[in-house]
Amino acid sequence: MFDLFSEIEEPEREELRNLRKELEEANYKYYVLNQPTLSDQDFDFKMHRLQDLEAMFPDMFDPKSPTQHVGSDLGKKGFAQVKHKYPMLSLANSYSREEIEDWVRKLPSGVEIVCELKYDGLSISLWYDHGVLVRALTRGDGQQGDDVIANIKTIPSIPWKIERADVPAFFELRGEVLLPWERFEALNKEREEQEEPLFANPRNAASGTLKLQDPREVARRGLDAYLYYMIGEQLPGKTHFERLQTAKEWGFHISDAIKVCHSVDEVMAYIAFWDTERKNLPVATDGIVLKVNNLAQQEELGYTAKTPRWAIAYKFPAEKQLTLLKEITYQVGRTGVVTPVANLEPVQLSGTMVQRATLHNEDFIKSLDIRPGDQVWVEKGGEIIPKITGKEEPTSDSSLKGREVYSFPTICPECGAKLVRVEGEAAWRCPNEAGCPPQIKGKIEHFVSRKAMDIEGLGEETIDLLYRQGLLHNIADIYDLKAEDVAAQERLGEKSAQNMLAGIEASKQVPWSRVLFALGIRMVGETTAKKIARKYNSIDRLQWATAEELCAIEDVGPQIAENIVKYFEDIRNLEILERLRQAGVQMEGEEEAAPTSDKLAGLAIVISGTFAHHSRDEYKALIETHGGKNVGSVSKKTSFILAGENMGPEKRKKAEELGVPLVSEEEFLLKIEE
Ligand code: IVH
Repeated sequence: MFDLFSEIEEPEREELRNLRKELEEANYKYYVLNQPTLSDQDFDFKMHRLQDLEAMFPDMFDPKSPTQHVGSDLGKKGFAQVKHKYPMLSLANSYSREEIEDWVRKLPSGVEIVCELKYDGLSISLWYDHGVLVRALTRGDGQQGDDVIANIKTIPSIPWKIERADVPAFFELRGEVLLPWERFEALNKEREEQEEPLFANPRNAASGTLKLQDPREVARRGLDAYLYYMIGEQLPGKTHFERLQTAKEWGFHISDAIKVCHSVDEVMAYIAFWDTERKNLPVATDGIVLKVNNLAQQEELGYTAKTPRWAIAYKFPAEKQLTLLKEITYQVGRTGVVTPVANLEPVQLSGTMVQRATLHNEDFIKSLDIRPGDQVWVEKGGEIIPKITGKEEPTSDSSLKGREVYSFPTICPECGAKLVRVEGEAAWRCPNEAGCPPQIKGKIEHFVSRKAMDIEGLGEETIDLLYRQGLLHNIADIYDLKAEDVAAQERLGEKSAQNMLAGIEASKQVPWSRVLFALGIRMVGETTAKKIARKYNSIDRLQWATAEELCAIEDVGPQIAENIVKYFEDIRNLEILERLRQAGVQMEGEEEAAPTSDKLAGLAIVISGTFAHHSRDEYKALIETHGGKNVGSVSKKTSFILAGENMGPEKRKKAEELGVPLVSEEEFLLKIEE
């Protein structure tokens, strides 16, 4: 009898094992894949449950359990991995006054608590040796991280050198790397135009950016950093607050929002203030960090395996709501992508009423088994469009009744064409480019938009009206519009007709590179169009370019090249292009942009240092004008370095090691005989 019972395992043991697996996976998806699957609150809840279970079953202790180590973002190639001098730990989280009180109770009485904002980015550890920035390490697995110093050096607020006599021989400054909201939104807009996947929030965008192998692109994106912790030996100051003020004097970016508090009431007032005020900050924050101010007390309190005992995070409640999913509808975009949209029982979220949210794609819906009638979580994070992030499991069988099995439509909800799903893509597309109303209207809207042909007086509503009247079917029809046709429309008087026609006339002066962007070839965004137009200065030249030739252009990969080639294979597009040409639209550009010589053809050239005769950008243009390619870093493939004054020591060292020749500014100008 006894034996029989002992064979039945307590369900908690199984729960423990499952939680370990689930949290391990969630860590991997968050840190390595950059695709979080659990909300922070769910993650913490599950982690606490796991900790409780592990306390119940000490015999199941496992040093590899997620309770024993922090998540890891190691595994990205291309950066040197360096062991941290001091492990980079995480922080315990709290969500209420009670939890903060519990933590304070364990501290020495009368303790001073520093309140800071909790920045929602990536932690970074900066090493300063005799005042010089020598390493910038990501957290990695907490024990060792990637050295991303070249990328960190693109952040203007991070000093490369501190020229002060009182700087210690060595210190480490830790902080958070962030992509400010404004930069994040601009980056996503650009990616949308280029049909690249969007970043879900600034944290993901910062993480993706920091792992890029191209510091110039990193610089362009505009990261920022806030520092919040100085560590090392024989450092000045007896308190955390003093140390941060010293760091500020040394030129570091330290937040002004730091406050020394003496009671839980003061801490709660700080939290209440910043919960609202943080919405006006240029960067994302997700809570408050509370730290014991006195460094000797910090040392005494010490650490657990994963977190310091002298600090705790308070997380702001996530801005999400549970609501009823009434119906799933589908939206067809300009390029034919069919996006499932959740139609919700309206809910208040971050000050606005939300009734529609994206469900991303078929795989997302299926993986969460979402169906109309479910209670779903809707969130508005850094994203512009609210999104569904999960659902609550129905509590009784009766709630499951009437739930239809979900299936993604097989035909386009707008035009009835059979949808296609390209292998390797998550999206279903409507292939009926020329006959599907939202695609037709979307292409015209894109063509007239500000960065494309910039035709005033022809907005979304007017396009819709003229489309329904049968006057607009494609972008070439715009140039056939007659004043009397337009003026005859209800709501459009003579004045608007005149304005519109003046706008259409003016658009004939828009340069070739913008016309190319306006055509709306898939994935050819504004910047890519400029680069293509520089190499192919007329539509006739571009039309005959092969995919291989196109791939030689910076930013043009095989997918974009294929889209361009396909565009010109479609006879309907060729007809439209001919009509645009007849109408007087610019289908060629200035000759000046094309290479004027091939003196540098096939050469990969690095520019380093400062110059007397031209700016770096001018040298970059000169290299391209003469058929060469400007590259960012020195490698075996580098032909030579155009070396100015004060060339970077790392580049010089690398050039010596690899035997890459240095060419002075004067020698270079002679080479191209300027
Ligand atoms: S102190 C030893 N202060 O939050 C603890 N961390 O969830 C050192 N974070 O890994 C961290 N703002 O990346 C500290 N003001 C702040 C912070 C902050 C954001 C991040 C940090 C840490 C994570 C823990």
